[in-house]
Amino acid sequence: MIRTKIIATGACVPEQVITNEDLSKIVDTSDEWITTRTGIKERHISKGENTSVLAIGTAKMVMERAKVAPEDVDLVIVASVTPDYGTPTLGCMIQKELGLVNAVAFDVVAACSGFMFAMSVADKYIKTGVYRNAIIIGAETLSKIINWEDRATCVLFGDGSGGAFVEASEEGGILAEELGSKGELWEILTEGHINCANAFNDLKIEDDPEYFVHMDGRSVFKFATKTVVKSVANVLEKVGLTKEDINYVVPHQANSRIIDVVADKLDMDRDKFYMNMDRYGNTSSASVPMALNEMNEKGMIKRGDKILLTGFGGGMTWGTMLIEW
Ligand code: COA
Repeated sequence: MIRTKIIATGACVPEQVITNEDLSKIVDTSDEWITTRTGIKERHISKGENTSVLAIGTAKMVMERAKVAPEDVDLVIVASVTPDYGTPTLGCMIQKELGLVNAVAFDVVAACSGFMFAMSVADKYIKTGVYRNAIIIGAETLSKIINWEDRATCVLFGDGSGGAFVEASEEGGILAEELGSKGELWEILTEGHINCANAFNDLKIEDDPEYFVHMDGRSVFKFATKTVVKSVANVLEKVGLTKEDINYVVPHQANSRIIDVVADKLDMDRDKFYMNMDRYGNTSSASVPMALNEMNEKGMIKRGDKILLTGFGGGMTWGTMLIEW
């Protein structure tokens, strides 16, 4: 049976590091508040690098690690809510920069669940034999859509990119998945609204207050804990596995308290949940592949390991994927 297997991982972040202490100089907050509420200590913030720079850096790294030639790449899918442009897509920008002349490239939008959505799309093409391989990237420059005067949101997010090179394989790969969306809750987490300013009305693009991230933190917390727990249980049930069969969970790195609740409700060993939000904050679609890459670089993952990737985000959306390494 043909499955979609991760062959290589990579990541790329801006150099500039902003600590909780740095943030306390621009808004009324403290290291103590941010650390106890979220587990975040610092994050990488763009000095001007846009999302394409991070996405291209990651794509280059995964290609080098997978030892694949540019003309042999079939598909590029980027998940992002903060692309450089409405068009071209980040996928097309990667294609040009890396000379992927035979690839088809496009982006998907599913906020912090984006990496799982992009992997799922690639999986369908690969399983059906349409394409043999793909570069899958999650990339964000959230710093450009954050209101830096809103302490309730500006302390949570960071910039970064992570990704993987996947290809058709007879062993391992994606074993099961669940994607979901609950549009009725979309208003609890929004960003990037573009109003209808034109030459024949009084609206002004720059006057749109909804351009920046807006979040009802408590509702998102409730949604996240409930949804991730159910989704992980559903995916395990699909393949007839139990939590004891799982080596690691790579959750969306939004908040360590959400992960504590999820681990508790699933009655799973907290040590199986990988976390690096202390150094990167919430990087939306980049968070799961960045964490997976870090584990891979540390040599934590061995052949045959079963790993759950799981995320939730704006939409509202969620995605859980069980992979065998
Ligand atoms: N520093 C200091 N105080 C802050 C603050 C900050 N950065 N942000 C908010 N506060 C204050 C609030 O103003 C409020 O003060 P008040 O009681 O005087 O009104 C108080 O802290 C409590 O605020 P509240 O929003 O109720 O805090 P909370 O315990 O719900 O924690 C979050 C806030 C955002 C950390 C929490 O709701 C959360 O983690 N939600 C999920 C967010 C998430 O995961 N988003 C990403 C989705 S992909």
